[in-house]
This record gives sequence, structure tokens and C-alpha cells, in this order.
Amino acid sequence: MTDPLPPRQDDDAATPATGWRAPAIAVGLVLLWLLAWGTLDAPTLLAALAALALALAAARRGGGARPGGAPAAARGGSGDRLAAADAVLARIPDPVILLDPGAHVVEANDAARALLPNLRPGVPLSFALRDPGVLDGVEQALRAGAVVRAEYVERVSPERAFEVQIGPMAGAGEAARGVLLFFRDLTAARRLEHMRVDFIANASHELRTPLASLLGFIETLQGPARNDAAARERFLEIMRQQARRMTRLIDDLLSLSRIELRAHVPPETPVDMGDIVRQMIDTLAPLAAENGAEIALAIAEGPFALRGDRDELLRVVENLVENAIKYGASGGRIAVDLRRDDRGRILLAVADSGPGIAPEHLPRLTERFYRVDTATSRAKGGTGLGLAIVKHILNRHGGHLAIRSRPGEGAAFTVTLPPLSGAVPHRHPPVTRAS
Ligand SMILES: Nc1ncnc2c1ncn2[C@@H]1O[C@H](COP(=O)(O)OP(=O)(O)OP(=O)(O)O)[C@@H](O)[C@H]1O
Ligand SMILES: [Mg+2]
Repeated sequence: MTDPLPPRQDDDAATPATGWRAPAIAVGLVLLWLLAWGTLDAPTLLAALAALALALAAARRGGGARPGGAPAAARGGSGDRLAAADAVLARIPDPVILLDPGAHVVEANDAARALLPNLRPGVPLSFALRDPGVLDGVEQALRAGAVVRAEYVERVSPERAFEVQIGPMAGAGEAARGVLLFFRDLTAARRLEHMRVDFIANASHELRTPLASLLGFIETLQGPARNDAAARERFLEIMRQQARRMTRLIDDLLSLSRIELRAHVPPETPVDMGDIVRQMIDTLAPLAAENGAEIALAIAEGPFALRGDRDELLRVVENLVENAIKYGASGGRIAVDLRRDDRGRILLAVADSGPGIAPEHLPRLTERFYRVDTATSRAKGGTGLGLAIVKHILNRHGGHLAIRSRPGEGAAFTVTLPPLSGAVPHRHPPVTRAS
């Protein structure tokens, strides 16, 4: 806490305050410590903060215990504890404000001053915060002596939302009749909630479309097309494709959640990226040929050893190369390059000569279900989850994905992965081949 409080001439509370301020600080510190371990509920939290802030305010009015104020010998143990309490309040990442019974600011931590730059000791809260909900809450807490909850939304970009817990002070003395405001930042929780709702809406929508189509065909086969053998064959084939699409979607959703579950467990097994790339190119060669595309594979001198999950890394290569086959121009060339950069990191680049991607789509391509052209993606059997899976796998491996593209000039997806330190030189000679 750095703002000096104005000295109060009329303050005779200093003497009684000294008796309880040290225990109050101790209680406050212990409760805050418990809070840090997530073992406290909201009312206890307010009590902890209140004890701490109140003790600081009272001690300051007493005039003896400003950190750095009186000489250490004069401050004694209680002064040291006050300095510690001061430091704790300053370090609380959430804004905390203590008000007197007239709703004037008594104490505020750094986070509060960062949020409300006009907060000044001795000045009414309404000078710094004009939110009627919070101000009414303060009045109510002062009047009724009960904990009040309000919401405060900072309407500047990026918008931040807070839950404000307004707790009356319990205890004896004038300052004890004030209130403490504790702001809890809800921004990240709200964003997560939005993502969850969007995700459920998208996943249900993706499943509903093939399901509706299946139901429609079943009804047609039970009714008008009951005796039409040719129509039955055609419809059954479409139904098979739709059922496969749902299976693929569920498989992708499951693998996404599996990867997320393991997001903080770095893979340990040494694998070779050269082997993985070769294996996947061999697997996808028939699909490329079917689409009239040619894959040109170039593997520079290794080693390409890293700690990785082989199946997950196979999925990365599969997704990028499959996308190049699906969305790159038919009859085009797909260049797959594996090399080390000048910092020794493993680089895998997959570049196609297709129509490319407009710049406004690039930052969103790794979002779940995001597609540039939903109809084309669906027609090609895509779920829109491929690049989201790639991103999560790379995060887990400490790597990242860069996408470069300009409309009409193809697209290049480059994966960067950290190598295994002290990797042995590569046993395979450099390869260049087309398939
Ligand atoms: N090489 C590319 N060229 C042009 N557009 C691409 C390319 N790669 C991806 N895209 C665009 O990015 C979107 C998202 O790709 P992503 O791999 O996440 O999903 P998908 O391929 O549609 O489905 P899935 O990978 O689940 O089969 C695609 O729908 C496509 O619009
Ligand atoms: Mg894909």
C-alpha cells in the first residue's frame, strides 16, 4: 500500500485499536493463507479481508506503524506484522476497498487502484466508481448490516465483469461500522461459459443434420419408396454416409477431450518425426492419387527425435496433409518438408497449390467447428475439428502451428516442435520423393 492516508486530528481510536490490531492482522493473514489454498467460503473471506484492512486502517490512524515510517526499534513486532499485512493486501490480485460509514475510502489495494484510478483515501467511493448497483449495495450493507452482492461491468474494451461482495464490518469502534468491497473477476469464467455453450450448440447442430436426414430416409423407405428397389439402394448408401459422419464426429470429439485431459502431461517416449511423416504419407498416398494430387516429400538430414505421442503426431500429419488434399486444387502439388531450423527445432511444412485462405479466416481456423466454407467441408466428410485437434496436440508437445496463405496462392501450414535434447544423429539418409 503506497498511498498515504491523511492524518486525522480527532482520532482517539488509536489507543483502543492497538490492543486488537495485532491479533486481527494475525487472523487476517492466517485466513488469507487458507484462502490461497481454496479452503474458505465467501463470507469467511470477507471477514479475513475485513480483519486485515481494518487493522491496517486503525494502525495508520494510530500513526505509529507505517511501513518504513518509525525506526524498526520503535515499531517493534507489531510494526513488522503491519508491514507484512500491508504487503499481503497489496499482493491480493483482486481489488479490495475498505470504506468508512460515510462511504469514504479508507484503504484500497493496488488492484483496486488499477481498476479505479480515481480512488483516493478520504474521498467518497462514488467519485471513483459510478455504478448504481454497487453504490446501492454499499448503502444497503451499511444500513442493514448484511453481506450484499452486486455486479460491476467495466464497459471499456476488453470488457471485464466482476462480482462485488460488499460486507459490513463487525466489531467495536467507529471504523468497524464501515464496509469492505471485494471484487472477483468473472471475465475468464464468463468466457469459458460462452465457449461451453457455443460448443454444445455446435456439436448438437452437427449431429442434428445427419440425424434429420437419416430419419427422413427411413420414413421414405417405410412409405412411398417401400417397393422401389433402386431408390432403396441409393437411400441406404446415403444413410451409411450420414451414419459414418456421425461416428467420425463422435470419434473426433472424444479424441479432443482425451487430448485436453492430458494437456498438462507432457509426452515422455522418444519418437522420430521422420518415421511418423513417412508412415503417414504412405497411408495417404492412395487418397492423394484418387484426388489427382501429387505429394512431394522432402526430409532433410536429421535427427528428428523428440519426446512425443506417436499416435497424436500421426494425427497432426494426417490432418494437415488430408486438408491439403481436400482443399488444395485437384491435380495440384503438395509439398511436405521436414527439416531443422537454425535453432535446432523440428519444422514440418505442408504447402498446397490450392485456392488459399482469405486473411480474415486465418486466426480462427483452429477453433472448433470453424470452417471457411461449411458446405464444402461437410461434402468432403469434414467435421471442422481437425485443426483444433492439431493445435491441442501441438500444445501438449510444446510446439505450435503457423498458417500462411493468400487467396489464389495456396496455403502453408508449418508445425514447430522442440527436439529431444542430445538426440543422436539420424540413421536415415536425406530423402526426396514424390508419391
Ligand atoms: N489447405 C487448406 N486450404 C484451404 N482451406 C483449408 C485448408 N486447410 C484447412 N482449410 C479450411 O479450414 C477449415 C478447418 O479445417 P479442419 O481441418 O479444422 O476441419 P475440416 O477439414 O473441415 O474437418 P476435419 O479435419 O475434421 O475432417 C476447413 O473446413 C477449410 O475451410
Ligand atoms: Mg481437416
